[in-house]
Amino acid sequence: MEGRSGPLGPLFDSRTGQSLGYGVPSDEILRRATAAYKEASIHSMSQESAIELMMYGSRFDPFQPFCQSLARFLTREFGEQVFETDLLTNCGATDGVRTLASQFSRPGDVVFVEELTFAGAKWQLEQAGLRIVPVPLDEDGVLTDELEVIVERELGGKESHALTDCSPFRALFYTIPVYHNPTGYCLSKERAKEVVRIARKHDLLVICDDVYHLLPLTEKKHRRLFAYDSKDDPNYKGHVVSNATFSKIFAPGLRLGWMEAPKRVRDIIAESAHIKSGGAPNHCATGIMASAIQLGLLDDLLLRAKAIYKENASALCDIFDRGLPSCIKYKKPQGGFFIWMKLPESIAAKDISISCLRQNVKVFPGNFFSVHGDFKNYLRIAFSHLPKEKVIKEAEIVVECIRESVESRK
Ligand SMILES: Cc1ncc(COP(=O)(O)O)c(C=O)c1O
Repeated sequence: MEGRSGPLGPLFDSRTGQSLGYGVPSDEILRRATAAYKEASIHSMSQESAIELMMYGSRFDPFQPFCQSLARFLTREFGEQVFETDLLTNCGATDGVRTLASQFSRPGDVVFVEELTFAGAKWQLEQAGLRIVPVPLDEDGVLTDELEVIVERELGGKESHALTDCSPFRALFYTIPVYHNPTGYCLSKERAKEVVRIARKHDLLVICDDVYHLLPLTEKKHRRLFAYDSKDDPNYKGHVVSNATFSKIFAPGLRLGWMEAPKRVRDIIAESAHIKSGGAPNHCATGIMASAIQLGLLDDLLLRAKAIYKENASALCDIFDRGLPSCIKYKKPQGGFFIWMKLPESIAAKDISISCLRQNVKVFPGNFFSVHGDFKNYLRIAFSHLPKEKVIKEAEIVVECIRESVESRK
């Protein structure tokens, strides 16, 4: 991917707006989140327990009312039991990935990732000194047959550090199983079972970035991969973590999220320097979010967010369906924030991004998300941030740039 100083440089400059480039909540959601946070803060700080929240967080347990409220909220949203005792806090999903990588791997270890992935997580994993090994994916998520072959190739027969209670995994698998970034794909049931089988066989820790899971655009529900690693299985040890965040359903500025994790993972994290020292995460914000959940403010916000994102996605698809030449392929998104679009091989998505940028519209070329810089003829278009009228206006510009490029090749 070209540097930030090249013609794509303005894509990375947040001062010039998010446009259709970034998967961030809309201004309306951020305004509503501001009001909700204010109300929840007053509620939380009026409780007798408020003084507890102004202290360092407990070494062993996050704030109990937070875990109780969050577990109830998630159980209702997922339609499946979430246990408060499985929950830990993080400072957002990016921090969750950093924490898990630093506790459960060593520099030089392997981390398997989908060949297209969230750039922010890739940077964290690279900075932790891990060797990133891509695994192909399709519309049903990661190709599990390929995953097994690649895991065996990378780990089979090789010396690894001895597995102990403090270091129980041979490698990490970072995945975005539901409403994947950038593709929007969802892992099928069959493959979810396979991922758990492979993780158990090869002692992998599966880090699921479940950041868009609560933002479906259709009625279809997807189980968390975490739930497939069932505690009732005779060979259960705990190989999957669900790493999630309030960034997409409330506000990214909060820097607060949660993880559902097996006991052996929670115990090791409780002993990590940053939890043991009380250095993080944000204990006070957990109290405020407990109030936001108890007062129904998070429910209201999520309801409105889902309605906005559904309207935006549908407006964008209408413009694309009406205006794009038939050689352009994309699937209607089922959830999350993105449309993943395939252009003919002869068109470089980078050129479309550059012509869109000339009209102040941001869309990312696919190679930005690829471990090896492939997928050069794909575009990622984010529909979460702009109000509907602007989504329509900017989508029309994207269509115009693509049409011009297709016409010029005739
Ligand atoms: C897959 C994925 N994980 C994590 C994040 C960031 O989450 P957080 O703000 O909680 O760090 C994003 C989006 O920015 C994302 O797309």
